[in-house]
Amino acid sequence: MNRGAELYAGKAKSVYLTDDPDRLILFFRNDTSAFDGEKTDQLDRKGMVNNKFNAFIMERLEQAGIPTHHERVLSAQESLVKKLDMIPVECVIRNITAGSICRRLGVAEGMDLTPPTFEFFLKNDELHDPMINEYHIRSFGWASDEEVRRMTELTFQVNDVLKQLFLDVGLLLVDYKLEFGRYHGEIVLGDEFTPDGCRLWDAETRKKMDKDRFRQGLGGVVEAYEEVAHRLGVELD
Ligand code: ADP
Ligand code: TMP
Ligand code: ASP
Repeated sequence: MNRGAELYAGKAKSVYLTDDPDRLILFFRNDTSAFDGEKTDQLDRKGMVNNKFNAFIMERLEQAGIPTHHERVLSAQESLVKKLDMIPVECVIRNITAGSICRRLGVAEGMDLTPPTFEFFLKNDELHDPMINEYHIRSFGWASDEEVRRMTELTFQVNDVLKQLFLDVGLLLVDYKLEFGRYHGEIVLGDEFTPDGCRLWDAETRKKMDKDRFRQGLGGVVEAYEEVAHRLGVELD
């Protein structure tokens, strides 16, 4: 599959057109960013690790019946995906408190949330991804009620699959963010699932194994991602 013109460059991935109008190439760069692009760095091997990690997870989700955009890995840092009409809404599930919910609600990190909680955020860096609800999504026309229902359902299904997958290798899935898009009338999971967009803690020590290592300057960012990949059996270069 030939890489065509760059469609857009995000903070961590670049997106390219291909010969097929229904397919894009995602190039996972070594760039990392936090706080909506305020803190950035380049981390050796990150692009390759995230590309392989994402493919592994997307394949597991497909096997569980969740429609994803993932087609196949093309090279160390590139994957072929379905071209989606992205919905500018981020779907977040939290199994354990961490991050913004602690700041917003004044709660301690590390509380179990039973049942897990669900939040929508508007994908908009300049506005720092404000939290929104389904009434905002409806009033501003970002998605239909049926699309909102389906995104919510799929995000919870992902939780059922991945919470267990990670627990089986001694990791707690604390929270994660998903992005969906439209593909020929169907809601399909897009973007990525990697330690950049979720929180993972070692189940025994509660050591952070995700992008909080970068956000909080804890060091060993890619090493932690590689350890998670290794525990899952993801083959890296
Ligand atoms: P960000 O936009 O948050 O900086 P990235 O650097 O990961 O994020 O950029 C990837 C961009 O590609 C995002 O805007 C994402 O919404 C978009 N995207 C992801 N998957 C697809 C897809 N299958 N079709 C179209 N756009 C996609
Ligand atoms: P938060 O605690 O900052 O709201 O984030 C919750 C989870 O969602 C966390 O794993 C990080 C992820 N996330 C992103 O990756 N990008 C985003 O823009 C947002 C809002 C959350
Ligand atoms: N994904 C967002 C960013 O890159 C939020 C974060 O990770 O802090 O800025």
